[in-house]
Amino acid sequence: MGEQVNVLVVGQGGREFAIARKLQASPRVKQVYCAPGNVGMTTIGVQPVDIAETDFTNLIRFAKEHQVIWTFVGPEDCLVDGIIDDFQAAGLQAFGPTARAAQLEGSKEYALNFMNSYGVPTAQHASYRDQASAIAHVDQFGFPVVIKENGLAGGKGVVIAPDKTTAVQTIKEMFSQGQSRLVLEECLQGPEYSMFVLLSDDQYRILPMAQDHKRAFDGDQGPNTGGMGAYSPLPQLDPADRQAMIDQVVVPTVHGLVAGNYHYHGILYIGLILTQDGPKVIEYNVRLGDPETQVILPRLRTDLFDLVDAALSDRPLPEVVVSDTACLGVVLAAKGYPTDPQHNQPLGELPRVPDIDLDYANVSGDLADLRGAGGRLLMVLAQADNLQVAHDRVYDYLARLNEPECFYRHDIGAKAGLN
Ligand code: AMP
Ligand code: GLY
Repeated sequence: MGEQVNVLVVGQGGREFAIARKLQASPRVKQVYCAPGNVGMTTIGVQPVDIAETDFTNLIRFAKEHQVIWTFVGPEDCLVDGIIDDFQAAGLQAFGPTARAAQLEGSKEYALNFMNSYGVPTAQHASYRDQASAIAHVDQFGFPVVIKENGLAGGKGVVIAPDKTTAVQTIKEMFSQGQSRLVLEECLQGPEYSMFVLLSDDQYRILPMAQDHKRAFDGDQGPNTGGMGAYSPLPQLDPADRQAMIDQVVVPTVHGLVAGNYHYHGILYIGLILTQDGPKVIEYNVRLGDPETQVILPRLRTDLFDLVDAALSDRPLPEVVVSDTACLGVVLAAKGYPTDPQHNQPLGELPRVPDIDLDYANVSGDLADLRGAGGRLLMVLAQADNLQVAHDRVYDYLARLNEPECFYRHDIGAKAGLN
């Protein structure tokens, strides 16, 4: 084993909490810094650093001053804005795609062109730069039709319009809100899955799969959110279907990234629908998912430091070894999330219980008097021999909390047959 080193994680949410925790647990790591991080991270020995994730200049200065061997970038917006390019230009290693590659998430049209160029199966689609032509072609894929804003929209830029009237109204609204282009897509039928792929140019490793829950309320009701809970593994997924996703989607995608000289060193998160004609991609994201990461990483037996370090150095990637355990997490969100989340509610001192992890996201104040800082505040998480035990532990813990200014979903795990 080499000398212990420092690493930096960029971001502040639950996803970055989980990445930082896993890196801090590596025998190779002396100190994990997280910028800006959050106060909850001090519970796991990670040091928050008061630099905004958009302040690339000061992040670079910090990394140099603290002998950071490399930086792991969590959120998509700084990747789209070129944080990796800036780090590389400063002679520093950072894990994530360059701005060019990050367009796969930053622009739906770019992603669709990529898929068309490299034979990656996707929905039938067309993109439009003006309202009149979008409306003129609105019924070409039948109804329901999927209407997507072109740029980053934090999960809010997609509307599935059941009929022509709604579709036309949606198109008008999107253009009047300043969209310069939008995409119309055939609505695919079938279960939705996400695959997380760790890439080092032409080498790749598939990370464990997780089920997210995007809607705010029980029974998949209410507005779309960043994600209200997750579990891993997916008992409902047939291994032959998983293999089809790798062969038909991951392989041509990696081939395209190599052929297009993207030099992709980072995570690619592929959203797909398993249709009767096989898996089809509905989106690429260029980073890990939040909250999927929180349930995936605890199951990883392979040292995350070793994986990323090998990827960044173009060494052979270690195999990904996954434990037989199951992990389930439920997000505690501020009342009003996602439309109008309350801020600054006192959370008190959350009980520390064996077998329960708390992955803090939007919290402020100090540990003895934690405050909600809007949105998804934290995730309550358990890892156990099976999903049912993990589920029961998490919900027992939540039932004992008294947080009237917060809410959570009660049905995380229902899709896996848990109750
Ligand atoms: P996105 O913001 O691209 O993740 O899309 C949000 C959600 O819209 C996805 O999670 C899917 O459930 C749904 N969606 C996107 N594209 C399609 C499609 N072509 N067919 C059916 N559902 C879709
Ligand atoms: N949980 C969905 C996302 O990270 O985009």
